[in-house]
Amino acid sequence: MRGLNGKVAVIAGAATGIGKATALKLAEEGVSLTLGDTNVAGIEAVAQQINAAGGKAVAIPCDISDDAEVKALVDLAVKAYGGLDFMHANAADLSLCMIDTHAVDVPLELFDRTIAVNLRGHLLCTRHSIPEIQKRGRGAIVYTSSGAAYAGEPERVAYAVSKSGINALMRHVASRWGKEGIRSNAIAPGVVLTENSTANMPDEMRAMILQMGRSPRLGRPEDIASMVALLFSDEGEWINGQVISVDGGVTMRA
Ligand SMILES: NC(=O)c1ccc[n+]([C@@H]2O[C@H](COP(=O)([O-])OP(=O)(O)OC[C@H]3O[C@@H](n4cnc5c(N)ncnc54)[C@H](O)[C@@H]3O)[C@@H](O)[C@H]2O)c1
Repeated sequence: MRGLNGKVAVIAGAATGIGKATALKLAEEGVSLTLGDTNVAGIEAVAQQINAAGGKAVAIPCDISDDAEVKALVDLAVKAYGGLDFMHANAADLSLCMIDTHAVDVPLELFDRTIAVNLRGHLLCTRHSIPEIQKRGRGAIVYTSSGAAYAGEPERVAYAVSKSGINALMRHVASRWGKEGIRSNAIAPGVVLTENSTANMPDEMRAMILQMGRSPRLGRPEDIASMVALLFSDEGEWINGQVISVDGGVTMRA
């Protein structure tokens, strides 16, 4: 894709699933990567895979709810490659999602931690990356949101609220910095089969989800990675302020 080769990206949440697939895809396109995650062995393995294939990647432990650790993640990209063009804020604590309930019942500690990682963490990725992207004159941020922000599910209240917040944050960034050449978009994936989600999904649930969609298959991490690459590339230059559903047609919105 045009406009990716030689650029620099940070991926926050890159050890497994969508973040890992995005790292591999961007590396293939010639992007130099800085990977942050709480799963340190995971990001080190991804960085090693990229470097062994002739790409460029460095990894650093990072809990995105921690301001100093997110700053260190962005600083590493600048130190390693001389600047920053793209931020993919992707991390979410999906272990909390499994025990997330409804508004009356949800433990407040669970709600607070979900917001701290899934939403405030994305704000931290935003505020540390924008000043660096500004120095380049242009660039882009892609957030991983979720169809849960729209779905109105009777459970997973904290997760849905955090993802709706990401959509608002994304629009704010698009609006505030779009004229300066910084684009901001979010991807709302449908059900994507990752190492982690597949392990927890019974066959009957997989069949039920497949039936609800308008595609012969469920999602793959690579489906989302391709959209991140497009949104970072010059081919996505006129896309700004959007939540783009990549979900095999499960949601259809105007
Ligand atoms: N897989 C799906 O069906 C699906 C659907 C909709 C949205 N999403 C979103 O896609 C994104 C990626 O999820 P995935 O499905 O690839 O799952 P995943 O668990 O493979 O990826 C999440 C990554 O975030 C990391 N992480 C968790 N807490 C962190 C923290 N505090 N700081 C830094 N990193 C942290 C994990 O270690 C992991 O590498 C998430 O934002 C998720 O909400 C996934």
